[in-house]
Amino acid sequence: MRTAKLTLDPGFTVGPVPRRLFGSFVEHMGRCVYTGIFEPEHPSADENGFRTDVLELTKELGPTVVRYPGGNFVSGFEWEDSVGPREERPRRLDRAWRSTETNQFGLAEFDAWARAVDTEPMMAVNLGTRGLQDACNLLEYSNIASGSKYSDLRVAHGSKDPFGIKLWCLGNELDGPWQTGHKTAAEYGRLAHETGMAMRSIDPDIELVAVGSSSRSMPTFGAWESTVLELSYDAVDYVSLHAYYEEKDGDVASFLGSAVDMDLFIEQVVATADAVRARGKHSKKINLSFDEWNVWYQSRPHHAPGVQPWDVAPRVIEDEYSITDAVVVGTLLNSLLRHSDRVTIGAQAQLVNVIGLLRSEPGGDAWKQTIAHPFEQVRRLATGEVLRVAATSDKYESDKYGDVDVVDASATWDEETSTVSLFLANRDLADSAKVDVSLRGFDVSKVVTAKVLAATEGQDRHTTNLEGAHDAVGLRPLQDVTVADGVATVVLPPLSWAVVQVAKA
Ligand code: AHR
Repeated sequence: MRTAKLTLDPGFTVGPVPRRLFGSFVEHMGRCVYTGIFEPEHPSADENGFRTDVLELTKELGPTVVRYPGGNFVSGFEWEDSVGPREERPRRLDRAWRSTETNQFGLAEFDAWARAVDTEPMMAVNLGTRGLQDACNLLEYSNIASGSKYSDLRVAHGSKDPFGIKLWCLGNELDGPWQTGHKTAAEYGRLAHETGMAMRSIDPDIELVAVGSSSRSMPTFGAWESTVLELSYDAVDYVSLHAYYEEKDGDVASFLGSAVDMDLFIEQVVATADAVRARGKHSKKINLSFDEWNVWYQSRPHHAPGVQPWDVAPRVIEDEYSITDAVVVGTLLNSLLRHSDRVTIGAQAQLVNVIGLLRSEPGGDAWKQTIAHPFEQVRRLATGEVLRVAATSDKYESDKYGDVDVVDASATWDEETSTVSLFLANRDLADSAKVDVSLRGFDVSKVVTAKVLAATEGQDRHTTNLEGAHDAVGLRPLQDVTVADGVATVVLPPLSWAVVQVAKA
């Protein structure tokens, strides 16, 4: 049996849980939009063409913000194509994913869908092939009530009320050579500044996200953030981070330690942003928007067999997630929570089919992938204040990250309901882990929730939720939880993710 000890104290907090931390992402990519959230021919479709089966599952997950419309897609997107009468909208070649965009789902449809699932939209502008003027036109179309060219155009298109979008991304992954309109940090920093300032003059209430590094392993990582923020500090509120993890060459030990990389990535971006703040004598702090993160098997072919260039809604990166992947996603959520004083926006990528929390088949079923479970539980149960977790855990060795804690944890304290919530992962493939949690400063002694995601009989760490076996992997009751003398003791099965809540008796 492996062991870990956690100490929590109500006076020892990171800060309030930022609700925007539990976002997701809908890109015009593969089948995320078409046959994902939108499929007018589907038996469950409503009058807007939205799949209500996917809509209901999305509501259960409850992403608090949804980033749209890309991703790499946005760097070639001409937003005017996606508004107005549907029959007049052009079909366009999407160079990013070499598919055909029909524009049958566009800005008004996204606004209506976001309202239907009760999420906050986070819109990205195209700073790849376009620039300041188009970003301003889109903002005017979206947020100005009426009385100007683009606001009146929106009204003429049937959307009387403005969309009122507060969160805007100034482009996407422009540090990446794969990005249409790839730029140097100096080119991008200047453009972000000019565009941000111009957008703010139209709507001073918006919040702006500058493009950060596409991963910690980018050769420009660090220098990119530094230069971009030097040039755009006053114009922006956040800098973005993107990270995808996968099990490569059978190295499951490193894969399970992915949150070590995420922790480091966040801490290094915070250090860089704060150094720019100090050098520039700025009073405001730049916060972090981790607006693409997930497990993604990037080393596998991106397109499914048979997909042809310029297909409509092809099968692209439809990764099927296992129990191992769900445990890693649980630890990535822990990393975000641990750093939630500075990471105040998060967007898991993506919502459906494309490295999705959800899967849906054209004309068929929709279901939750394994990774949806930790996402949903943390979104629901992480409330109140994030607690600092003083942890000592047994370790294991990994090639990429050296010694890694066997038990990974985050915790929240909700004073209103007198509830401590613990989010725990056991990274050991073979052994259970006994976790002692000192809760002495809290008046809590009753276990109100104890659920675990782990392999059950007949399953192994590779088990996934498939069509015909939607609920093979899910949450089961966790029996081994006790509380005595201010200490909660939890026994986690091998390779598992769990949520435990202890409340006032
Ligand atoms: O989420 C899939 C892709 O990953 C996005 O389009 C891009 O921004 C990132 O590289």
